[in-house]
Amino acid sequence: MASSFHFSLLFLSLLSLSPAPAKASFHPHALLLPVQKDPSTLLYVTQLNQGTPLASENLTLDLGGQFLWVDCENGYSSTTYRPARCGSAKCSLAGADTCGECSSAAKRPGCSKNTCELFPDNTVISAATNGDLGVDVVSIQSTDGFNPGTFVSMRHFLFSCAPAFLLKGLPSGVRGMAGLGRTNISLPSQFSSRFKLNKTFAICLTASTRASGVVFFGPGPYHFLFNTDASTSLLYTPLLLNPISTADAYSRPTASSDYFIGVTSIQINQITVPNINASLLAIDSNGNGGTKISTVTPYTVLQTSIYNAVLTFFQNQLSRVPTVAAVAPFGLCFNSTNIGSTRVGPAVPPINLVLQNANVSWTIFGANSMVQVSNEVLCLGFVDGGVNPRTSIVIGGYQIEDNLLQFDLGASRLGFSSSLLFRQTTCANFNFTSNA
Ligand SMILES: *[C@@H]1O[C@H](CO)[C@@H](O)[C@H](O)[C@H]1NC(C)=O
Ligand SMILES: *[C@@H]1O[C@H](CO)[C@@H](O)[C@H](O)[C@H]1NC(C)=O
Ligand SMILES: *[C@@H]1O[C@H](CO)[C@@H](O)[C@H](O)[C@H]1NC(C)=O
Ligand SMILES: *[C@@H]1O[C@H](CO)[C@@H](O)[C@H](O)[C@H]1NC(C)=O
Ligand SMILES: *[C@@H]1O[C@H](CO)[C@@H](O)[C@H](O)[C@H]1NC(C)=O
Ligand SMILES: *[C@@H]1O[C@H](CO)[C@@H](O)[C@H](O)[C@H]1NC(C)=O
Ligand SMILES: *[C@@H]1O[C@H](CO)[C@@H](O)[C@H](O)[C@H]1NC(C)=O
Repeated sequence: MASSFHFSLLFLSLLSLSPAPAKASFHPHALLLPVQKDPSTLLYVTQLNQGTPLASENLTLDLGGQFLWVDCENGYSSTTYRPARCGSAKCSLAGADTCGECSSAAKRPGCSKNTCELFPDNTVISAATNGDLGVDVVSIQSTDGFNPGTFVSMRHFLFSCAPAFLLKGLPSGVRGMAGLGRTNISLPSQFSSRFKLNKTFAICLTASTRASGVVFFGPGPYHFLFNTDASTSLLYTPLLLNPISTADAYSRPTASSDYFIGVTSIQINQITVPNINASLLAIDSNGNGGTKISTVTPYTVLQTSIYNAVLTFFQNQLSRVPTVAAVAPFGLCFNSTNIGSTRVGPAVPPINLVLQNANVSWTIFGANSMVQVSNEVLCLGFVDGGVNPRTSIVIGGYQIEDNLLQFDLGASRLGFSSSLLFRQTTCANFNFTSNA
């Protein structure tokens, strides 16, 4: 339901938000959130503590999401919640131009008068609606990069209250979405400004159902057992700004909060895949095309012509292995009894996403390209995005698991590790034993 809303011009003074009262002098080096994969939706779920009294809530992790939004309709009660008054510096920081007047008699978080509104977006089902901007306490664990440390709290964390229906399509028990996108009020932006952390964060997702992956806010080390600092030996590529919002609703023209990178060609077995239309790989003046990274897309989605070119060439490069009937949502599957295994997964041709020059590629090995759908069937883990998708390549969760991705917002670049399996570790190997 893409829609745009009229906005009223508000004449705002550029007041900065009043800083939270100084707490005892503990200054965290970095912060972290644990992340689990939900086996039924294939989405990633994290836990944040919010409100007074503090309550732990499950949230779907949304890498390109604009901010934190939470269902305030059911079960959000907190004595420290405060709505953001229309025209306040908080509304200005959030870019919240519309002013809401909740008409219900029973005032509660998410329903108050003279409160500016955002458009919380369920990016899984592409639905957005309006929701109050408010602040409340959140508490998050610090880290030295080796173990979790003490919890630190932030008293005026900005988030949006959403109606309960916006939870549709999210894992059961989830109360909202945690947006890490490029906005003033995403989790990384608020944490780095409050705790004076470097403007950088990193994600390391796992498919494990027994252990957690991790998001780090702030600089490395990002330490995984045994003895791997995944913040070292990264390759870097510029993060690209899509000037046109990719959100499902917004009140004024704004840049996209998604993280785009510049894929210029695709290679399989080091050979360039022919017949990929280069103009689909660029972001055009309407914000269409290009390549973004998403944690709400389980498998990489390719525009139809790119998808067809990649499948044809991949099959051609693996022609010694018999194909079997494709299993949806995939289009190319093999008899896995004919495919050996390596440290980095099934022995299939590596896929390179070639970036700013021929020397910088994101290499996808078998562990991230092939999905075991049954005992004897391995499928190429890409899906067809249709002829006219908004974004031509959406790199999905399966392709980024056990890879560390560092979003360096200061330098506007992405650092990527390639498969940590090469370094004999995984994203499930952070040592969650607390030092605190
Ligand atoms: C979060 O989800 C996990 C797994 O579904 C569940 O065990 C836990 O109780 C949930 N936590 C809360 C606070 O709802
Ligand atoms: C980010 O915050 C600054 C300072 O408050 C404000 O001028 C700017 O408009 C905000 N950006 C967006 C996209 O809302
Ligand atoms: C933090 O960022 C500054 C400026 O970009 C950089 O010089 C410094 O090395 C960074 N610190 C760490 C620990 O990464
Ligand atoms: C390449 O893609 C652009 C943008 O979608 C389209 O206008 C053009 O016709 C395509 N070229 C070919 C040769 O298919
Ligand atoms: C895979 O190949 C093996 C050995 O050739 C054969 O026994 C098996 O039936 C094949 N499986 C499928 C799903 O085609
Ligand atoms: C790519 O690497 C080769 C060999 O290391 C080097 O000679 C060349 O200058 C590099 N090209 C670019 C564009 O960095
Ligand atoms: C994990 O961290 C704890 C606390 O620092 C430490 O005692 C333990 O040895 C670590 N585990 C491993 C396997 O290194």
